[in-house]
Amino acid sequence: MRIDILTLFPEMFTPVLGTSIPKRAAEKGLVGYHLTNLRDFATDQHKSVDDKPFGGGPGMVMMCQTVFDAVEAVEAQEPERRATRIVLSPQGKVLDQRTVEELATKDRLLFLAGHYEGFDERIIEGLKPMELSIGDYVLSGGELAALVVIDAVVRTLPGALGAETGAADESFADGLLEYPQYTRPREFRGMSVPDVLLSGNHRLIAEWRMQQRRQRTQERRPDLWQAWLAKQPPEEPKKQKSKRRAKLPSSDAQQLGASDDQQTTPDR
Ligand code: ADE
Repeated sequence: MRIDILTLFPEMFTPVLGTSIPKRAAEKGLVGYHLTNLRDFATDQHKSVDDKPFGGGPGMVMMCQTVFDAVEAVEAQEPERRATRIVLSPQGKVLDQRTVEELATKDRLLFLAGHYEGFDERIIEGLKPMELSIGDYVLSGGELAALVVIDAVVRTLPGALGAETGAADESFADGLLEYPQYTRPREFRGMSVPDVLLSGNHRLIAEWRMQQRRQRTQERRPDLWQAWLAKQPPEEPKKQKSKRRAKLPSSDAQQLGASDDQQTTPDR
């Protein structure tokens, strides 16, 4: 994948893309980052990239000419690779894992990060980029938002994560949040690791983890929980209890009866 980033602040990108997984992915040849300073495309002697908004109001607006020239010049560097253009803006579609995975299938992404009050609307109209937001709050510019999108996309590229890690069972991969994790020591300041994780019983561990994922999602993200429930196949019809009970020896039948009835008061 080729990733182009057009920005007034390329220096914000180099440390992040040169660290951890984004860096490793580039070293493995899974992705190449190409930074372009929008100011290099300013045409006046002051190297202006923005101007006051028509109609008045605070702040400055990114001008059309610089951005169009920059996008066209960058795309012409490798014209056979069609770029998916992305503008970062609080007015865009809010990023989610499904969009991340869709972007990860593209051969080339071009990020346009604006600063100041935003872009002249004709940039959106003329370049027809996808508009993406990373959440309902306002940042000083699109740079950090672009980095968030790039990190989320790059880590899903096959081979980006080491063999020991994988994106498959992470939060959102299947619509549920992740289960809690523990490592050594077994006891820390009076807090212990749940026994089941030390049991060595893989089936029980998997069941416990799934139960934790459901519980966390239900408690913390009712929106995700409802969406997950709606995706589940309908439950198989339960076997008729009376017939099954009839076949069991009387002691088993009694036990079943007790555990079926949530209201039963335990014997003291
Ligand atoms: N630019 C400023 N705020 C933003 C946000 N929340 N998402 C994307 N781009 C932005």
